[in-house]
Amino acid sequence: MRLAHLSDIHIHNLENVRPWRFLNKRVTGGLNLLLGRSGKHDNRVVQAALEHVQTLGVDHTVVTGDLSNLSLESEFEAARSMLAPYSANLSVIPGNHDYYTRGSVRAARFESYYAPWMVSDLPREPGEVYPYAKLLGDDVVLVGLNSCIASPPTFAVGRVGEEQRARLDALLSAPEIEGRFLVVAHHHHLVPPVHTNPRKEFFRQMEDREEVKALLTRRGVGLTIHGHNHQHGIFALPRPDGGITYVSEAGSTSVARFKDPHYGGKFNIYDIGDGELRSAQTWLYEPEDAAFRAWRFWTPAEGWRDGAIAD
Ligand SMILES: [Fe+2]
Ligand SMILES: [Fe+2]
Repeated sequence: MRLAHLSDIHIHNLENVRPWRFLNKRVTGGLNLLLGRSGKHDNRVVQAALEHVQTLGVDHTVVTGDLSNLSLESEFEAARSMLAPYSANLSVIPGNHDYYTRGSVRAARFESYYAPWMVSDLPREPGEVYPYAKLLGDDVVLVGLNSCIASPPTFAVGRVGEEQRARLDALLSAPEIEGRFLVVAHHHHLVPPVHTNPRKEFFRQMEDREEVKALLTRRGVGLTIHGHNHQHGIFALPRPDGGITYVSEAGSTSVARFKDPHYGGKFNIYDIGDGELRSAQTWLYEPEDAAFRAWRFWTPAEGWRDGAIAD
């Protein structure tokens, strides 16, 4: 099973947006966009990533949140059009930018745009979208979580919440998924990223990450994939059963301009077989070529190496 992991694609589109829609939390986010974020994140880089993924023999693609910047209909529409050609094997979950205002959360705007990519093969409680579970092939299950809450200006915190954690616990012990390798997608990180100033963590954290980590490791999850920090790395969490839960962030796919490749535009490819995560390959956007190249690869035994993984 080969999975592609894109994240934080931050599609921007302010066409036909009325000025009064910025009279809320969007006043800071909108300013941020005008002052440079829209130049750093480029919709065309996401397009290039999606096209490149098609050449890599991928079974399923997951986008781990922040599809938009300001939760505007125009952004959700543009992201949907860009992703639509890949609909057949696609999953998405929301990021904090997709829950940017209380109004967008109340309207379930993200869910209304992307419901077809969040269907569940396992029953859900009536009215609940998350967590959803997709059976991929014979041996993998993908679980989509929602860690997003509408938060005040300058805050980008998240929380899975007690009720969703209880539903997740039930889902991860369902007989339908027994024996499958478990992959869980969430937006906020479970492990603070190495390059973030710890003082910022308070404003960006998943507030119940300890509870979520305990649950995922207890239920034998093999891999979790996330976004949010626009950074890159894989962490290993020991499990009570003696196994490991790997926690992987690919980075923000849409970044077109960067000095340090750690923050460059990226996506990951994971190979899963025989109930294990065998490898991860990270593809980095090269602005000069306007294309992605195989940048680093990772195996559980040897960690990270530069270049392309040998087939
Ligand atoms: Fe983001
Ligand atoms: Fe985020």
